Amino acid sequence: MSPRILYTTLLIGALAFAGGCTKSEPESSSAQVADAVQGKSPGDQQQAQAAPESGVDYHSFANTDDFLVKHVDLDLEVHFDRKVIEGEAKLQLERLTDQKKPLILDTRDLHIESVRAGHGSQLQPVKFTLGKTDPHLGTPLSIELPQNATTVAIRYSTSPDASGVQWLEPQQTAGGDFPFLFTQAQAIHARSFIPLQDSPKVRMTYNATIRTPPELRAVMSANNDPQAAKDGVYEFSMPQPIPSYLIALAVGDLDFKPMGERTGVYAEPELLDAAAAEFEDTESMLEATEKVYGPYRWDRYDLLILPPSFPFGGMENPRLSFITPTVIAGDKSLVALIAHELAHSWSGNLVTNASWRDLWLNEGFTTYLTNRIMQNIYGDERYRMEMALGYDDLEADLADREDRDEIMAIDLRGRDPDDVFSNIPYEKGSLFLYELEQKIGREAFDQFLLDYFNHFSFESITTEDFLAYLQQTLLQQYPQQLNEARIRQWIYEPGIPEGAPHPRSDAFTKLDPLRDQWLSGEIAAADIDTSDWTFHQWKYFLDGMPEKLSESQLRELDGAFGLTDSKNNEIAFSWLMIAVRNDYQPAFARLEDFLTSIGRNKFLRPLYRNLVDSGKQEMAVRIFEEAKAGYHPLTVKVNSRVIYGPDAS
Ligand code: BES
Ligand code: ZN
Repeated sequence: MSPRILYTTLLIGALAFAGGCTKSEPESSSAQVADAVQGKSPGDQQQAQAAPESGVDYHSFANTDDFLVKHVDLDLEVHFDRKVIEGEAKLQLERLTDQKKPLILDTRDLHIESVRAGHGSQLQPVKFTLGKTDPHLGTPLSIELPQNATTVAIRYSTSPDASGVQWLEPQQTAGGDFPFLFTQAQAIHARSFIPLQDSPKVRMTYNATIRTPPELRAVMSANNDPQAAKDGVYEFSMPQPIPSYLIALAVGDLDFKPMGERTGVYAEPELLDAAAAEFEDTESMLEATEKVYGPYRWDRYDLLILPPSFPFGGMENPRLSFITPTVIAGDKSLVALIAHELAHSWSGNLVTNASWRDLWLNEGFTTYLTNRIMQNIYGDERYRMEMALGYDDLEADLADREDRDEIMAIDLRGRDPDDVFSNIPYEKGSLFLYELEQKIGREAFDQFLLDYFNHFSFESITTEDFLAYLQQTLLQQYPQQLNEARIRQWIYEPGIPEGAPHPRSDAFTKLDPLRDQWLSGEIAAADIDTSDWTFHQWKYFLDGMPEKLSESQLRELDGAFGLTDSKNNEIAFSWLMIAVRNDYQPAFARLEDFLTSIGRNKFLRPLYRNLVDSGKQEMAVRIFEEAKAGYHPLTVKVNSRVIYGPDAS
């Protein structure tokens, strides 16, 4: 589909939404805008409707059918003392209508000092109003523009509690001497540090000047220069158009080490060598991915190693993936994370989901690509193990989710995307693509993906755009192998369709009898030869343990394998889950240390949930309240809800 057709689809979606589905006069879209300014969230209006409208972003107030932000110039100063980012965002707009309309931007907890607008450098002060705050979406900023104005300059400052920014004290860093700051914009947190059209369907280029204390270095999802003098003023440009959720900034005591011609790592000096060694295969991964899916479009690919409070494993900020230090295991066992963030350079950053309902287009494709990269670099056995663990994750998620949350094209109206995060878009999406690959053959499927990335490059697309593309391509080319009904079942229905592939690994299945024999007392833990087990096998072995184990069984396992002291955070996590549900006290000191030193929600949420579910609410509260000051705002939000209930803020 051409960009024009794509845009028309989005527009029709937006108009239908505003006008109650049937009206399509341009005026009807102003209803949405008016409601937004009055503080009525797009989510509220939608509750009565049957299905979400394709291409409508229910998580943005922006009137993207009137204006599109094409470029942003940032001039920002980072104040560690006040935990405030302050400065100016200058937006370049494309006007889509001739009518005099206010510009509506997304903000959250921003203090707007002044707004000027006009043409080029001829800017005059203009009126602006902040609308009613929605708990999930933030606050619409409505700006009255002079006729034909295409430049808007907003002076603003962030709140110390900005949802997309974490300010770290020196003691929360590896070095311990300098403060640190990082942003995390996905899904809807860019608006907490930049006023903009915070929707993935809008792509913009950006330039930035970032002012920091002179002893620190700033890096961004842009053209970082490791040679740049450390003088407290850093210039960036991102010449490719990207959605707002990929704008990212970090400031800290950062050094750089190259890993290959186009790849390198930024980290605090204490972590730099270990990180560069752990991730030394990044350059090969990049080359392998290009060979199959087309050229890497972003110039350099560097990694930034963050402090352990980073709430995710990784974030695919273009040119500079943000990475948790908890995957530096010493044996490359957790580097699938790097393959994953790298793969987003195609699936996600090049071809982007148009709304958060379409997240599976980002994460499902990326999970599929990750497995392929892992196979390419580390071989078949590793590939099968990664796939089998992914399948088990999916099954575990399906076991405790409502039907509506098992649907790939998920209905997120009125919901906070942070609350609905799960393995479904990742693993169900990936399994769906794996089924397509199995049905038409790998070569043909790789060709399809290459064409898909080229066709939609630098666009944001909906689930329905993908389906339409599939109809024009694979569904026509392979009528014997594929049918649309089954594809729709994958995308629009809960669960895993019957007959779907079930990836398994011999390296795992051979562990089942050993686990059974140990459980039935036939063999002692110490008699199991684990000398050549990989991390994946440990995870499989532990995650397959029954709900209940006796105190003596736990002591035996721990004694034989030193699980409480495991240096591998994934193994430690699997073990701590067992320890919590079985009240295994000897692991509780490690549990507390783990929960207070790591902020990765993939670990924290299940551990806190497990504590609450197994009657240790008091312990959960005590540890959480103690650790809270060091957690990222997102970690505080999602885990408060786990511990104190869904209404906790
Ligand atoms: N883009 C995601 C992180 C994300 C998703 C942030 C949705 C906010 C909303 C990133 O690429 C990711 O998937 N990270 C995973 C990696 C894992 C699946 C290998 C993580 O952090 O665990
Ligand atoms: Zn991802």
